[in-house]
Amino acid sequence: MKNIRLDNITATAAGSFASQPDTRKCELAQALIKHLHGFAREVNLTHAEWRSALAFMHRVGDISTDSRSEFSLLSDVTGLSSLVDLLASDPHATPGSVLGPFHTVGSPWLGNPANLIGKNNGSRVLFRGRILDAEGKALPEASIDFWQNASNGLYWQMDPTQPQDNLRCQIKVGEQGEFAIATIRPVPYEIPTDGPVWNELLWPAKRSSWRPAHFHLIVSAPGHRTLVTEVFEAQDPYLNNDAVFGVREPLVGEYRTITEAAACELLGEVDGSCEVMEMDFRLARQPTTR
Ligand code: BEZ
Ligand code: FE
Repeated sequence: MKNIRLDNITATAAGSFASQPDTRKCELAQALIKHLHGFAREVNLTHAEWRSALAFMHRVGDISTDSRSEFSLLSDVTGLSSLVDLLASDPHATPGSVLGPFHTVGSPWLGNPANLIGKNNGSRVLFRGRILDAEGKALPEASIDFWQNASNGLYWQMDPTQPQDNLRCQIKVGEQGEFAIATIRPVPYEIPTDGPVWNELLWPAKRSSWRPAHFHLIVSAPGHRTLVTEVFEAQDPYLNNDAVFGVREPLVGEYRTITEAAACELLGEVDGSCEVMEMDFRLARQPTTR
């Protein structure tokens, strides 16, 4: 008989995973148990509190569907998604930031420069830059998967008035790693407020539901680590208070007014000036595996 007591339950439960043949899974399970037990001990968790937490997790599961994961939102608003992004970011490369729920695979491939403006309202802007390696050398084989919200704050999947694939595309960069996307300025956006994460966790804690305006990008190039990231603007009122902790200083750009005729023509601004945001992205080399 093993006499389970306060002083041996954590080691016993963690040790029960010792025969897991996958050594990484074994490490994850054992560390998770140690930290969960440590949490319960630190706060002296009561039965009522633990029952209530389990019921909350049930509600998080109940509202989740294939296209709406309340669990991802829970991970985002607790900072866990961003922590995993930061842990995966190479210090010599552009930092990663949250993927969010509105990426779908298979956006249309467009030429570079791409034009996403279509019938969208909003201020027209040119987003351009270069894709480089960690040493600053151009990566001409890189491609970009890009998406953003419309001037009403909504992504096309949430808004039946927008055409399919509105404000999203994939493009290949040019010989010097350069890209340009003529688009509209994204706007700040609220995370979903109709589920238990907002109603039971964030609202009572007086948290903000807002995300600063952002572009989303997935940048990939052969031999390099794929970068999932976002770009923000320096003037955004929610920059210091992102509900999902996605803002990193190197990801904050500024719109500048330029008078470069070729660039302004991409936006349909034939005379005078136009707004541009420029940002380069650096990809870390893929670790070589034997
Ligand atoms: C977004 O980027 O749109 C987003 C990210 C996390 C949670 C909700 C929305
Ligand atoms: Fe987003």
